[in-house]
Amino acid sequence: MVPYVPVDLYINLYLPSYSNLNAIGGWAYVSGGSKGIIIYRQTADVFSAYDRHCTHNADNPCGSVDVDSTSTYVECTCDGSQFQLYDGLVIKGPAAFSLKPYRTSYSLTSNVVHIYN
Ligand code: FES
Repeated sequence: MVPYVPVDLYINLYLPSYSNLNAIGGWAYVSGGSKGIIIYRQTADVFSAYDRHCTHNADNPCGSVDVDSTSTYVECTCDGSQFQLYDGLVIKGPAAFSLKPYRTSYSLTSNVVHIYN
């Protein structure tokens, strides 16, 4: 099982490292969670965030997911599971469970996303 790790992060979209997130469909890696977090902009004011810790075999040290080179899905090279970049849901096994989601809230005034659990 993917471990519970407390997450309480504020992502300032004015920072250059998060500039991709200023467009809908943009994504970024964020440090935190169990093996790092992926944040994705679904709409003008809705973001998804989920852990990079693969759900197939959570004890496997190689089980960490990356966004593919065309930014269309997320993959664990360990055993080839694929997940939707949009929300971390499973596209292709062996993983049976979605990537572990975190809550998000976005403030348009400050251009900051809060990621938490
Ligand atoms: S640990 Fe990720 S697919 Fe098996």
